[in-house]
Amino acid sequence: MTRPQSHHRCAECGAAAARWVGRCPTCGGWNTLVEERAAPRASGPPGLAPAPGAAVAVPIGQVPADSLHPVPTGLAEVDRVLGGGLVAGSVTLLGGEPGVGKSTLLLQLLGRVAASGARTLLVSAEESAHQVRLRAERLETIAAQSWLVAETDVAQIEAHVEAVKPDLLVVDSIQAVSDADLASEPGSVTQVRACAHRLVRLAKDRNVTTVLVGHVTKDGSLAGPRVLEHLVDTVLSFTGDRHHALRLLRAVKHRFGPTTELGLFEMSEGGLEPIADAGHLFLSDRREGLAGSVVAPILDGRRPLLVELQALVVPAPPGAPPRRTAQGIDASKLHLLLAVLDRRARLHTAAKDVYAMAVGGARVADPGADVALALAIASSVHECPIAPDLVACGELGLGGELRQVPQLGRRLEEAARMGFRTAIVPPSAPPAPEGMETLRAATLGDALAFAGRGLTVPSTSR
Ligand code: TYD
Ligand code: MG
Repeated sequence: MTRPQSHHRCAECGAAAARWVGRCPTCGGWNTLVEERAAPRASGPPGLAPAPGAAVAVPIGQVPADSLHPVPTGLAEVDRVLGGGLVAGSVTLLGGEPGVGKSTLLLQLLGRVAASGARTLLVSAEESAHQVRLRAERLETIAAQSWLVAETDVAQIEAHVEAVKPDLLVVDSIQAVSDADLASEPGSVTQVRACAHRLVRLAKDRNVTTVLVGHVTKDGSLAGPRVLEHLVDTVLSFTGDRHHALRLLRAVKHRFGPTTELGLFEMSEGGLEPIADAGHLFLSDRREGLAGSVVAPILDGRRPLLVELQALVVPAPPGAPPRRTAQGIDASKLHLLLAVLDRRARLHTAAKDVYAMAVGGARVADPGADVALALAIASSVHECPIAPDLVACGELGLGGELRQVPQLGRRLEEAARMGFRTAIVPPSAPPAPEGMETLRAATLGDALAFAGRGLTVPSTSR
């Protein structure tokens, strides 16, 4: 008799391991491996003909191509991110930290879709039907074809879908759904993955457009993380600081369109309000006319992100060694940039204290931020503010030359979308996006001259 196959999987990174060890060999997480037992496969006897109901191979030209059109949801910012809307029968994972507003966004989306005549079903696995109804009332998203059930059992969810036959199914959240036949704990990687598998199959078999909510863990990965990402067609990430109203929606993965669009919302008393133009919103947090501040479009994983870099350069106390303090920036990078500024731009800071930081707790490891930080330092030394609608992006070589960085086009698109109008870039940069002018700087000297007349005057004090 054969024993059921068992192996272990990391709850953080999803990597498989043959036996339990205290530390995941792939991501290094401690105590993250959980046991998984392979489910017995209900396979028929092997044969040459496809089983009844199984897919049949056809020439690629005969595969229907017209079924992949996105259907608008009616929430413009969501449709923007999805490249038009949700594709029928597709499965989307909406990830975000608890409390960011995923349930709110989906309630609003369901209301819009149901108001357009489609039938929607919300499976609330975390909140009671009563709670959801009260919230829907407050958000004014109650529509006749908007169905609701509070349910956590995946088999029951399948039954509800059979009964209601919705066009759009939302399951909030996948971590709270479980399969009673599985031994592992609800919320474990095994449960989350198995339930997501069943819901994906349901979506494909019944052609039900499906959105699964997934809470992200503290390190930013989806709980039951990459194991879910490859199962679904689209992964949306909903982010924002709890203490601020701004919420950002991005596609991290999208089988039907680009992952470059950004959707913006403001969390208000009446739910999530779309923000058509975020330029002023982002800039309003910055003090205009402040010397030592420059925004850099950096890459955060695959996502472009605008980060404000600040520098403060002050005379060092007499007799004391000059201090260099870096926050959110690599200290050795700061030293390197100060050396390049000294030699290539005659900007001498040997007798000064230099403080540099990435604002808002951001951590910047991207070399694309080099030139922005160099400009911020020069701006502080000369007490010469740089235009607030300018971004700078490029790696600085030791010779003071500006070098190309990956995905500059996407970074500039994001900056243009956020309202920035001018970008200092390396000479080989792609054409500027609409509404933005690029200033091509071959050297640090060029970049300083473009950023402001006062920045090229050599510093007098050493
Ligand atoms: P929620 O959608 O429940 O977040 P998630 O599903 O991602 O966990 O949103 C929770 C927060 O949103 C909550 O702290 C209160 C806030 N909120 C508003 O500010 N206005 C609103 O109209 C609603 C519904 C929520
Ligand atoms: Mg929720």
